[in-house]
Amino acid sequence: MKPWFARYTAHGMTQSCLVMTFIGVAALSAMACAAQAVSAPIVLTGADRRPATSLNGEWGSIADPYFSGLFSFHHEEKKNGWFLNRKAQPDDPFPTEYDFSKAPKLKVPGDWNTQRASLLYYEGPMWYERDFSYAAKPHDHVYLRVGAANYRSWFWVNGQKVCEHEGGYTAFACDVTVALHDGSNFVVAAVDNTRHADNVPTLQTDWWNYGGLIREVSLIEVPETFIDQYDLHLDRGEGSVIEGWVHVMDGPPGEKVEVSIPELGAKATAITDADGKALVRMSVNGLQRWTPEEPKLYKVDLSAGEDAVHELMGFRTIETRGTEILLNGKPIFLRGVAIHAEAPYRTGRAYSDQDADTLLGWAKELGCNYVRLAHYPHDETMLRAADRLGLLVWSENPVYWALEFDNPKVLAKAEQQLDEEINTSRNHAAIILWSMANETPNTPERTRFIETEASHARSLDPTRLITAALLVRTEGHTKIVDDPLGQTLDVIGINEYIGWYEGHPDLADTTQWKIDFQKPLIVSEFGAGAKAGLHGSKDERWTEEYQAEVFRHQLPMLNKIPQLRGMSPWVLMDFRSPNRPLTGIQDEFNRKGLVSDQGQKKLAFSVLEKAYKDRTIGKAD
Ligand code: GCU
Repeated sequence: MKPWFARYTAHGMTQSCLVMTFIGVAALSAMACAAQAVSAPIVLTGADRRPATSLNGEWGSIADPYFSGLFSFHHEEKKNGWFLNRKAQPDDPFPTEYDFSKAPKLKVPGDWNTQRASLLYYEGPMWYERDFSYAAKPHDHVYLRVGAANYRSWFWVNGQKVCEHEGGYTAFACDVTVALHDGSNFVVAAVDNTRHADNVPTLQTDWWNYGGLIREVSLIEVPETFIDQYDLHLDRGEGSVIEGWVHVMDGPPGEKVEVSIPELGAKATAITDADGKALVRMSVNGLQRWTPEEPKLYKVDLSAGEDAVHELMGFRTIETRGTEILLNGKPIFLRGVAIHAEAPYRTGRAYSDQDADTLLGWAKELGCNYVRLAHYPHDETMLRAADRLGLLVWSENPVYWALEFDNPKVLAKAEQQLDEEINTSRNHAAIILWSMANETPNTPERTRFIETEASHARSLDPTRLITAALLVRTEGHTKIVDDPLGQTLDVIGINEYIGWYEGHPDLADTTQWKIDFQKPLIVSEFGAGAKAGLHGSKDERWTEEYQAEVFRHQLPMLNKIPQLRGMSPWVLMDFRSPNRPLTGIQDEFNRKGLVSDQGQKKLAFSVLEKAYKDRTIGKAD
């Protein structure tokens, strides 16, 4: 086994740096060397299945609207910024004007907007700091794993920069080994949720721009060579074979990989190639396929050298045949609902098992077998709950509304987030659809952008279906689905609001549909706003009766669409949005929820529940 420091050459540190650091020359040279240790963040598949040291809890926090903690007034990145977490010294020539230990606390995970009234609208850089102790162990890599930081984030350990990341809804891990001390340490993060035109998503969204370390933060230790990514799935052609691959980071070619499913007595070994990837095929006689009705999960053990991951996975196949969606070879109708990652009751970004169980519990009460997790990748608690509860999932990359589709940097950001989404979550049986976008304008630049994104998704994961939520055109009483992007998709998603943004509920009765694609169609959004507890006539907008009336007219209309294969009415629960100011009704919440943010079920909830449970919507499956 190589000595612990030999590996750093693989991470870009020079031998000379190692020697200097190793013999402990001046702190400055170590600092200078350590600066070279900043490596790009990686994606750890199944990170939530690994033992971890949680860094959740209270962190000191300082809002820094001008980002003066990182940038000088010449806009140069500082070498002695707030990330050094310096404590005031009596003989300091200058007063230290920031001290995290005196600063107010923010809970991690959690957005800052809903933790402090003064931060509800805050948009800008926020500094976080916490101390932690660490006992050096005979392992080789320690990663700081961040479930999500919205939107841009920078991280330092003991004053040494360890990585930075862009993207507000995907997980990443930073190698912090070189910066760790045995004993007491501190980690500083800067998170900036400022919206920019070339961000993904861009300036305008219909949800609150909750900023911060919005999902779990932990330390994960892995041996010198370790499994960073893997993909295991049923071979569509041969129902009793699991195929896939396991990637070993920093491993020499020829490393042995083992995959086993003890309950089935199944085991496979494979050898890594020059790229560290080992191809796996394993016969699995007697395997019970995962279905929404019986979401069977198996313990799956993966190992390579000293590393091991103990997964919990379901196995199923998903494909289309003509206009049908086939789950395990049988046609299925997706009885769903759309869900934002808004926390029930407390509001703000959802992040806990309890949030997931509440939201998906309501979806199960509705009679759903499917959920559209809009408009960005949700966290592992939601996906684990969907695997466990038997809810098929539409997962979405936040290519939302009018991005800068002609900007190659924006495409690179969208692909990076897609990489992180797919490589983090590719082993969840529940996920069947990767959505590329939502309601993007039909322009040639947009179509090229999303075609590129879709082929990237297919290259990452050929086992799932590609979709997007498209806008539809209206000619008289006919809705026309002819967005050229439909050519690229496996499953067509469309959003429409007949009865809310278009006419009255009974307009649905006389609306025809013209669909230019012989492919499965999901109505990915329809609905209406209602304030929970506001009652009146069914013609009075914002009443629960009006919202229920929209559903009563929408459902029979949609049932007439021959290739309708699913729906996800907008939306399960009211969610915060700055676009929805109507005082006394919206109060900065989008009120199209079937349930209020305080858990009050509206009349439309039971209208949809009856349609799903009586199977009066969609073909019975
Ligand atoms: C759009 C959009 C949603 C939005 C909804 C609405 O379809 O996709 O994000 O919240 O309409 O207007 O409520």
